[in-house]
Amino acid sequence: MKILILSLLALIIMTSCSTGKQEESFDVNRALKYCDTQVKRTLAEIGDTVMMPRNIMDSLSHWSLVPVEISEWTAGFWPGILWYDYENTKDEKIKEHAIHYTELLAPLTKLPAYDHDLGFQIFCSYGNAWRLTGKEEYRQIILNAADTLATLFNSKVGTILSWPREIEPRNWPHNVIMDNMINLEMLFWAAKNGGNRNLYHIAVEHAVTTMKNHFREDGSGYHVAVYDTITGRLIKTVTHQGYADETMWARGQAWAIYGYTLVYRETKDVRFLRFTEKITDIYLQRLPEDFVPYWDFDAPNIPDEPKDASSAAIVASALLELSGLEDNKEKAAEYKTAAVKMLKSLSSAGYQSRESKPSFLLHSTGHMPNGSEVDASINYADYYYIEALIRLKSMR
Ligand code: GLY
Repeated sequence: MKILILSLLALIIMTSCSTGKQEESFDVNRALKYCDTQVKRTLAEIGDTVMMPRNIMDSLSHWSLVPVEISEWTAGFWPGILWYDYENTKDEKIKEHAIHYTELLAPLTKLPAYDHDLGFQIFCSYGNAWRLTGKEEYRQIILNAADTLATLFNSKVGTILSWPREIEPRNWPHNVIMDNMINLEMLFWAAKNGGNRNLYHIAVEHAVTTMKNHFREDGSGYHVAVYDTITGRLIKTVTHQGYADETMWARGQAWAIYGYTLVYRETKDVRFLRFTEKITDIYLQRLPEDFVPYWDFDAPNIPDEPKDASSAAIVASALLELSGLEDNKEKAAEYKTAAVKMLKSLSSAGYQSRESKPSFLLHSTGHMPNGSEVDASINYADYYYIEALIRLKSMR
C-alpha cells in the first residue's frame, strides 16, 4: 500500500513538472510588458516615419529602416507588431501608430502582383487591423489583395507562383517556395469574408500540391520546388536560403509547420493534421537543447553556426495553435510544452535584446548564403514572438 501511494505521488510530481509547472514558471505577462517597452523605444527612435524598421545587425543598436515598396516582403510586420501590442495593452496611442503604419501599405494593393509576398505584407498589417477594428475599408483592401495574389495561381501546376522575377534569370519557370504557405491565410480569409469562394479552392489545391512535391519522406521540406508551366510536372527541388538542396532550412520548415497548421484550421481535413504532425515532429526531434534551431539543421559546423530565433518564434506560435486543434490529447500537451520551452528560451537574457537595442529578440538569420542579416534582430522574429505570447496568454 505504502509503495503504491509513494509511486502515485512520484507520478503526480513528474507529470506536473513536465507540463503544468513548466508552463506556470513562464511569466507571459512579463514578456508582453517587455515587448511594450521595446515598441515604445522603437517609436521614440523612429516616430511616425514613412519607412519600416527591418533589422538591427549584431554590432549596431538602432533599427535599419526600409521603404514601403512592393518588393519589401517584410513591410507588414511592424504594423502587425503594433496591432498585437495594442491588442494586449489597449493603449490608444499605439493604435494610432498602428493605423499610420498599416495605411502606408495601401498603395501596394493597387498594383499588379509583384510576387507571393503580398500575403505577408497585407495580412500581417491589414489582417490584424481588420481583426481589431472591423473597419470596412480594411476588409475591401484585403479582398482586393487576395484577388491580386490569386492571379499568380497556375491551375495546371496547382500552386501559386512565388517569384515571377526568377523565371528567366534562374530558368525556374513556375517556382514555389515553402514560405508561400503563409500567404494562403489571406485567401482562406477572403473566401469567408465576402471574397470569391474560389480562393478557398486555390488555397487548398496549393496545400495539396505542396504536400505532394515539396517534402522528403522524413517530413523535412525543400525550400524551392520548380514546375513546368505547361505540363504542371515537377522539374526539381532545390534550396535558396538553406545550406544545400537536401538540408532542412530552419525557417523554411517553420513556414511549413505554421502553414499546414492554418490549412488544417481552415479545412478541418484530417489529412492536413496528420501531415502537420509529421513535419513538426522532425523539427522538434532535431532541435538543440534550448529549442532554438541553428539556421539550417544540417549546417556543417553546428554548434558553431548562427541560430535562427525567427524560426523558433514562428514555430512557437504555430504549435500553440496546433495544440488547440489536436484530436490527440498527448500530442496537444507535447506541442504546447514545446512552444513554452521555445518562448522561455527566447525570453531569456541570451535571446532578448533588452537594453542593448529596441528590438524584442537577437539571433535571427535572414539569408545566410548571401551573408545578409546573419545573427541579427529582424522584424519578423519579433512579429511571431509577440503573436505567440498573445496566443499563450489567451490559452491561460
Ligand atoms: N520569406 C523569406 C524568408 O523567410 O526569408
